Amino acid sequence: MDLQQLKKQLSKDLNKASNSKDLQDLKIKYLGKKGRISLLSKDLGKLSQSERPKAGKAINHLKKFFEEQSQILSKEIEQKEINAILETESIDISLPVESEKLGNLHPITKTIDKICQYFISRGYSIEDGPEIESEYFNFDALNIPKDHPARDMHDTFYVDAQMLLRTHTSPVQIRSILKSKAPLKIICPGKVYRSDADQTHTPMFHQIEGLLIDEKVNFGNLKHELTEFLNYFFGKKLKVRFRPSYFPFTEPSAEVDIMDKKGWLEIMGCGMVHPNVLKEAGVDPKKYSGFAFGLGIERMTKLDYQMDDMRLLFENDLRLISQSKNEDFKIALR
Ligand code: DAH
Repeated sequence: MDLQQLKKQLSKDLNKASNSKDLQDLKIKYLGKKGRISLLSKDLGKLSQSERPKAGKAINHLKKFFEEQSQILSKEIEQKEINAILETESIDISLPVESEKLGNLHPITKTIDKICQYFISRGYSIEDGPEIESEYFNFDALNIPKDHPARDMHDTFYVDAQMLLRTHTSPVQIRSILKSKAPLKIICPGKVYRSDADQTHTPMFHQIEGLLIDEKVNFGNLKHELTEFLNYFFGKKLKVRFRPSYFPFTEPSAEVDIMDKKGWLEIMGCGMVHPNVLKEAGVDPKKYSGFAFGLGIERMTKLDYQMDDMRLLFENDLRLISQSKNEDFKIALR
């Protein structure tokens, strides 16, 4: 068969091909091992020396022609097939995907995790208590009787005559002792509520309560535990001061201060658990003693993240949340 005729046949075949399978078959028909063009190349050897170059060139041309044409056709077929899929499928899987923004933990959550991690490593377990609490657990059982001035300081949100939004995490002390008895080592992170709002107060905020009860626990144990904790939290050895203070549920009580660039900074409250509190929860104060502490999470976060206004923590501004991803956003005291 002469090459002209073969070319015509080839063009006709290409015109007829309507899908990728047809095209594949044609490739085999012409360029496969026993394909028509391949066979021609093989037969070149049978030609005389003088005829060979011309015939070889013509075969190469034909081969190139086929390859070019089938490539164009292949693109057309591919597009046709994609269009057909797009028409029948409701999801266009060929569209580029906008990558999802990954979430990040809120600074408050990170601070809670950081603190809990430390105390868990020291053998404390995590306890939980209700945010809608009874007056009894929030005040009475903590040695804060009805007419006690400390009640006024708490700016309590009452739900009804007996129930309120807990003003601190300290009621969990009582609940935990009733549940687990002495000896005991717990911390409780959680939300607390007070009717108060300005640059340093929000009506809802977070505290972590700590309580350790055992035989022969003394104030030295408390000092050691909290000093070590503060060194861990701020990542360096700090100057820590225990300043005498007053809480109805501890005796003696203290406020813990740390030395900042600007001077002493109040960080948390603590003390030895008041015998009345132990008695109320069914623990014999002659056998057991304990220490307790409470600290504000927002305050710790504010220091950790060098923030001026605590209210930023509650504005749901994603820029703040993504900033907390950056661990270089350093602690004020470092
Ligand atoms: N409950 C106290 C408050 O909200 C904080 C506190 C002080 C908790 C001393 C304690 C403690 O456990 O021993 O202000």
